[in-house]
Formats: sequence, structure tokens, C-alpha cells
Amino acid sequence: MTIAVTAVAGHLGREIARKLIALPNGEPVIGLARTPKNAQDLGIELRAGDYNQPDQLRASLAGVDTLLLVSGMDAPDARIQQHRNVIVAAKSASVRKIVYTSIQGLEEGTAFSPVVQSNRQTEADVRASGLEYAIGRNGIYIEPDVDYIDSYKAKGEIANSAGTGKCGYTTRSELAHAYARLLTRDDHNGKTVNLNGTPITQSQLADYLNGAFGSSLRYREMTPEAFIADRTAELGTFLGPIIGGIYEGIRLGIFDAPSDFAAVTGRPHQSWEDYFGTLVAQG
Ligand SMILES: NC(=O)c1ccc[n+]([C@@H]2O[C@H](COP(=O)([O-])OP(=O)(O)OC[C@H]3O[C@@H](n4cnc5c(N)ncnc54)[C@H](OP(=O)(O)O)[C@@H]3O)[C@@H](O)[C@H]2O)c1
Repeated sequence: MTIAVTAVAGHLGREIARKLIALPNGEPVIGLARTPKNAQDLGIELRAGDYNQPDQLRASLAGVDTLLLVSGMDAPDARIQQHRNVIVAAKSASVRKIVYTSIQGLEEGTAFSPVVQSNRQTEADVRASGLEYAIGRNGIYIEPDVDYIDSYKAKGEIANSAGTGKCGYTTRSELAHAYARLLTRDDHNGKTVNLNGTPITQSQLADYLNGAFGSSLRYREMTPEAFIADRTAELGTFLGPIIGGIYEGIRLGIFDAPSDFAAVTGRPHQSWEDYFGTLVAQG
């Protein structure tokens, strides 16, 4: 049973490939990448996998039994067609099962909703494909907040529009663990599962960061409009509203979702005490 992982040069695809390689008696793993040379360090077979190239995708999926489709990063409308290219190629290459990394979030009413809608459309396309499937709806990655620690420290605060809303963050490593299970077992076929850890507020996030990095961050609430303007000024008109919209969703409680992580993996999601404690241990 050969497993292929798309976008294998990216953070999530790479983590998933690593988990699969590390499995005892693991199946052969092939990495698909738009830029295969960026994944050479993985030491697995690499094939070309640009979501915009249907013929290339079909050829690269030859002999693949199970496929992990990592959601793309293009504009929402473009993503839908890109993901369709992968699904159609998988069908014509006789792939048996497709596992898709979707996202949690509100389909209407926030600046993040167009991205969520595009993910929901791909979910529908996967379900309609006739292939075996499993769909994970990922929580928000916590690593960017850790990566952002120096900026937070410089400002002395975490300021955004989440308010007292809780967010069921996750880590790419924990997601990879869950996706390795969804790929190698069929007990969640036909299901759509939420993959996230225990939901926390921004004040709790500040406390965890302070514990790990010796900072004294405080949380300051902003209006959704002000935070979108702030993010757009720093990140531009594509990414700024997306980030602002995610925090609008947190404010509305959309990311305070029950998680299926334990049902999928047979163990609880890593606790935030453990995750941030590991960061302390790493120095
Ligand atoms: N849950 C969250 O908080 C969260 C946050 C951000 C993003 N996401 C979603 O999760 C996905 C994976 O996250 P990540 O951390 O792995 O992102 P990442 O590190 O930025 O990796 C994205 C990968 O997508 C590949 N890619 C882009 N366009 C492509 C195309 N046309 N065809 C094939 N591959 C293409 C890139 O390939 P190259 O190496 O060639 O550039 C890159 O390797 C993202 O793409 C996004 O949909 C989720």
C-alpha cells in the first residue's frame, strides 16, 4: 500500500511524511511537491506535484493507493480548482482513498469565511469523488504565536480581536500524528473530524508564552475592524484579512470546538502545559 503526501516540502506535509516514515512496518511513502528539491532531505521518493498541472499530477499518482491532500495557499477560488485537479488525477490514477486537510471556521460572516468556504467546497468534492475518504478539520496552528514571540516581547502584549473567545489550537506535529492514523487505518473512512487541542483564551496563551519565554505579555482586545486594518498594514490585502478573520472567528466562539483527536488517534491531544514545557526544555 503506497501512501503519497502532497505539498511535502511544506511544514505540514513534511511532518506527515516524517510520521509515516517513522511508523513500524510502515508503508512506502512518496512525496509530491511543486518544488521537489525543497524536500530532498526527507530521503523519500519525490515526484512533481503542482496543483495547477493535472497531467503531471496524474502521472505522479501512478501506483499510489492512499493520498494525503494538503490544502493549498492560493486565493480561495483558485484553490478549489487546484484541489479538483488533485482529486480528478487521483481518480484517474486509481487511487483508493484520499485524506484531505481542511480547516475549522465559519462559512459566512468573517473575513476568513471565503477560505473556509473553499475548504468546504473541496470537502464536498472529496465526498462526491466516489473514492474512500477521510477529512480532518484542523484547528489553528499554535506555532506562529511561538515564532512571533520576539515581536510580542517588543510590544509587551498580544493584541487582537479574539476577546475572551477560546481557540482550539493544535500543532503540526499533533496533526501529523492524526493524519498518519487516518491514512493507515480505515476506521474513520467517510467521516469528517475536528483535530484540535484544548481551547484556550488569548490571556491563557499569553500566560503560557510568559511561562516558556520569561516574558510579561498582557492581552489587549481590539475591535475586529481595527485588527484587520492592523494585519492588512503588516501583511497585505490577501493575508491581512485572512488573519483578522480568524480572530473574528475566535471571538465568536467558532474555534471553541469539540475535538475528535482522541477518537482518531487513541490518545488525547498534547496538553498545552506539555507543549510549552517542551519549549522550555529545548531552551
Ligand atoms: N490551521 C492553520 O492554522 C493554518 C495556517 C496556515 C495555513 N494553513 C493551511 O494548511 C496548509 C499547510 O500548511 P503548512 O504550514 O504546511 O504551509 P506551508 O509550510 O506554507 O506549505 C505550503 C506548501 O504548499 C505548497 N504549494 C503551494 N502552492 C502549490 C501548488 N500550486 N501546487 C502544489 N503545492 C503547492 C508549497 O509548495 P512550495 O514548496 O513549492 O512553495 C508549500 O510546500 C496551508 O497550505 C494552508 O492551506 C492552515
